Formats: sequence, structure tokens, C-alpha cells
Amino acid sequence: MCGIVGYIGEQQAYPILIKGLHRLEYRGYDSAGVSMITSQQALNVYKATGKVSALEEKCSAEDTTGTIGIAHTRWATHGEPNTVNAHPHRSQSGNLSLVHNGIIENYKTLRAMLEKEGYTFHSDTDTEVLVQLIEYTQKSNKCDLFTAVQRALKNVVGAYAIAILEREYPDRIVCARKGSPLVIGVGTDAHGKKEFYIGSDATPIIEYTNQVIYLKDEEIALMTRQSDLPEIINLANVHQTPEMHTLRLSLDELEKGGYPHFMLKEIWEQPNALRTCIRGRIHVQAKDVLLSGIVDHKERFLNARRIIICACGTSWHSALIGKYFIEEAAHIPVEVEYASEFRYRNPVIYPDDIVIAVSQSGETADTLAAIQLAEQKGAFLYGICNVIGSSIARATHSGTYIHVGPEIGVASTKAFTGQVVTLCLLGLAIAKVKRTLSDEMFHTLVDELQTIPDKIQWTLEHNKDIDKFAQMFTYCRNFLFLGRGYNYPVALEGALKLKEISYIHAEGYPAAEMKHGPIALVDEEMPCVFIAPKRGMYDKVVSNIQEIKSRKGKIISVVTEGDKTVSDMSDYTFVIPDTRDCFVPLLAVIPLQLLSYYVATAKGRNVDQPRNLAKSVTVE
Ligand code: M6R
Repeated sequence: MCGIVGYIGEQQAYPILIKGLHRLEYRGYDSAGVSMITSQQALNVYKATGKVSALEEKCSAEDTTGTIGIAHTRWATHGEPNTVNAHPHRSQSGNLSLVHNGIIENYKTLRAMLEKEGYTFHSDTDTEVLVQLIEYTQKSNKCDLFTAVQRALKNVVGAYAIAILEREYPDRIVCARKGSPLVIGVGTDAHGKKEFYIGSDATPIIEYTNQVIYLKDEEIALMTRQSDLPEIINLANVHQTPEMHTLRLSLDELEKGGYPHFMLKEIWEQPNALRTCIRGRIHVQAKDVLLSGIVDHKERFLNARRIIICACGTSWHSALIGKYFIEEAAHIPVEVEYASEFRYRNPVIYPDDIVIAVSQSGETADTLAAIQLAEQKGAFLYGICNVIGSSIARATHSGTYIHVGPEIGVASTKAFTGQVVTLCLLGLAIAKVKRTLSDEMFHTLVDELQTIPDKIQWTLEHNKDIDKFAQMFTYCRNFLFLGRGYNYPVALEGALKLKEISYIHAEGYPAAEMKHGPIALVDEEMPCVFIAPKRGMYDKVVSNIQEIKSRKGKIISVVTEGDKTVSDMSDYTFVIPDTRDCFVPLLAVIPLQLLSYYVATAKGRNVDQPRNLAKSVTVE
């Protein structure tokens, strides 16, 4: 949550900061702010509630000059979203300005201590405490900012990514991280001089340089105009050598490419995204699945007693599908845990357990904490992430990237299908190692998995008219999504998608559970979406539909192409091509994504940035 951008170099900072904030707006968008030091050494701070565009409007009448600056887009944690609570925050003397992503857990104690020392506070935030603490430390130790930040952070409990400006020294920025991500871009300007960019992730940086340093936990970095590389020290006073990485992210991937919203673009990108996800992992001639993350740890997987998957939200849904597949194909018991619950239990972990973290962003605080706990208990950690170099990817012993490209829309779409495909590849690769599938079945599954991108394309093209009847559902107050077996998690995902972007209340259930309570909700105003492919438990789902129909519920169904029985029982149907049971979720979820998208846009919702949400949930 919250996005940070920073710049120091010879260019004007403001346009770089604003563009960067727009790119990071998916991380939070309730208020925004910038701070620059002008050539007359004034430290200007401008803030606005609402989106970055509101800040731009405000700044149009202000002095935004300066070649050094920091900026922030906020997702409120402490204090309501208003201009006082928006970042950057200034220190008491006005000499420092600071932006922060994360939560300072002991901020009340620190604030009380600072108040005793004569510091006053204007906001309700933990961030203002941090900037005052740094100034207090600097003054009482009579030290430079770099040292003061390091000393001050030793007293801080919680998570932070911060960037700080000092009015008296317009040639330096200090930044630090613990628990929240921070990336430093190292560029070269037109005159061959080094310039530095700071971002919560690489998206505000990629336009200028592909050379980045991922700051590690408890590291503090100093960037000056005179240096070619940041100076880095950690909280234990040990100097660190900056590790340079080359980004493989293109600017095109970050743009909307003619679509009205990122979400729609990302829904339509799925065929290609999944081709990339599969590419190089299925060895066509040998009909084999090769995941380097497994090859290097074959014995672990061969002897695994149990797999525990920790995840949140949509990633938790894909993990459930992964559980069904891995248990079926590789005969290993799999438990799927909400990371937020797992981290606060005292879970039993055996040394031969494998703990998998599934996370698009690779930054979700609960998931990260869950695997850190599992590691303390001796588990082997495997990461399934999308964002390269993210915290979870780096915290795990091995793993597989889903490689679906940047997902900007807050509602997860292509990451969901990418995670499901990756979990299926993982299940197949383990099955191969353990020889739990016959060669014939293994080859059948591998062949079928490779047809999925084309079948998603087909599904997208045959469900284009969802936008026409989505209008009819804008007045609904509730929705039920129902499925069985592999399609129960799809029902959960369909419901989550609809509620998060349209704000219509929706629930997902295993279809057979209806009669144990939820069926009481059904009347002529209740749309019930059934995932009813002509596979597995088809007849049983038909009976479940009948039960709803006789209570006058409206039936919307996802059916296999050519199906008549369910289509005739339904008020609306979406078609998908036939595939094996285990891969149906990859097709069935497509019309549900489109349904949510079109209902939400018909209601005038901001689908890419729904209210109260953020793309990476880096706070608990
Ligand atoms: O980045 P992660 O996959 O760890 O994120 C987990 C959830 O916050 C995320 O899937 C969330 O539920 C999505 N907004 C759903 O569309």
C-alpha cells in the first residue's frame, strides 16, 4: 500500500515524480503529495486529497522547480485521507520532508517521548512521528542525516520504506526499508552524469533506466549528486555493496494499449500471458514439464510429506485449485491456508513439509510473514509470484515466476490464471518426479494444458456480448456463485471479482452447500451463477440448478459449448470449450471476469482502482 517515488539528478524532478505517482497509483489513491528543494533552497511540500490528478491541479499554481524531490500516493492506515495526513510530512524545524509506506507499530510510544521533548504534531499519522524522530536524533546526536536515519530506525518497530529530503543539503536523498519494498534506479543523464530514481517498485523507474538495486530489509541508502552508486549501510552498522540488477520490463507492458481500463486489457491478455507462462516449461518433444525450481530440489519434492500453501484473496482461490490438482496428480496432501490466519497460529510444521507462497505482487505482508514463520519452523519455502525480485520471491528458497507481465488493475485476472497454470505445472512436475501418473495420463494432461491459451481466446471471443446484458444486473443487491469440485474455487473467485469492483454483495459456495442454509436467500431477485461444465459432477449440478429454479432464482450459467440441458434451464448462458475437469477453472473464470467488469463499468465504478482497495497489501 502507498507508492513512493524519488529523484535526484540534473533534470527537473516534478514531471518525473508525477509520472511515477500515476504509475504507482494502483498501490493507493486516497491522497498524494510531492516535495522538492528549489535552487533557492526552499523545501516545498504540496498535497491534495484524492488522486494524483488532484495534486497536479493543485501544483499547477505552485513553484514546482527543483532537481531533487520525493512524492507519495497514499492508502490510509493511520488517520483519515485528508491533506493533513497526506505525505510528505515535514519535521518540526521544516528542514526535513519524508514519505513512508508501511506501519510504525510503536508510534504512540515514540510520539509521547517526542512530545515530552517539545515536538508538536499536526497529523494523526505514524509517519509524522518518524520524521520528527529522525530530526530529534539528528539534533541530539549532532550527526548527518544518513547517520540520524540509521540511529532513529533502531528505535522503530514496524514496517517502512521511506525517502527523505533535507533542505540544507539539496544534493542528497536518504532512503531505507524494512518489510515494505523499495527499489533504487541508477541512470545516466544526457551529460553522462549519474542520476538516481526511487520507487516502491520498478514501474516509475523503467522509463529512465533498467539498472536497479533492490534495497534489502534494514538497509539505509544515501544518494548524492557526487556519487556513482548509493552508499548503503544496515542497521547493524555494516556497509553493504550495492547489488545491481537489470530489469526486463518494457514500458509498453505498463500502458493501457487502447483499452479503456487495465482490467479489460489484462483479461484479454490472458491467452498470450499464459503462453509465456507455459513457454520453456513444457518440453514438447519429450512431453515433459521442466521447472528449474523443482529440478534443483528434486529430493525435497520426492520426500515431501505435505504441502502447505499460504496466500490471500484471489491467490488463495488459485491455491485451492492447485490443491485439488496436486493431490490428484502427485498424491501429496495439500493444505491451503489464509496467510493472515496462519501467521498468528502456532502451526505444526514438519521438517519435510514444503510451504508454498502464492502472491501476484510478492509483497503481501501477511503472506510474507506466514512464510517467515514457516522458515523459523524449518520448512522449505517455495514462491509462486509474478513480480520479479519481489520480497516473497527473494525470501523463498526456490520458486517459479508466473510470467504474466505486470498486472496493474487492482482486480486480479491474468495473475489468477497464471497462478493456476503454474500450480498445474508444479503438480505435473512433482508427479513426474514421484511417478504418480501413468505416462499416458501425464501426456494427455500436458497436451491439454497447451491448448488452454487458444481455448481462452475462443472463450473471450464467444462471450463478447456480456456487456449488453450486464446492464440488467446493475440493480441487483446480491449475487450467488455456485460450483462443485474444481469449480468451487471459481465460484469464490467470481464472487470476489464482482464485489470488489461493482460493490454488489456476492458470495461463492460449493453448489451442494446451498441446501444447508444459503438457499433461504433465494427469490426472484437473486441471480445465481452456476459453473456447470459438461464434466465431472454435471448431473449433480443440474439438480442443484433445479433446486434454485424452483425457488424462482435467476439462473446464469457457464456451460460447455453445445450444452442444451443447462442452457434451457438458464436465463443467461456463457459458453466455454470442453476441456478436462482440472483445467475448466481456467476457462470458466473468463466470463465471470467479463461479467464483473461490465456490471461494474455499467454502474460507473472505477474498476482499476476500486474504493478502499490497493493492489499490493503491504500492511496487515
Ligand atoms: O499480490 P497478492 O497476490 O499476494 O495479493 C493478494 C490479494 O490481495 C489479491 O489477490 C486481492 O484479493 C485482489 N485484489 C483480488 O482481485
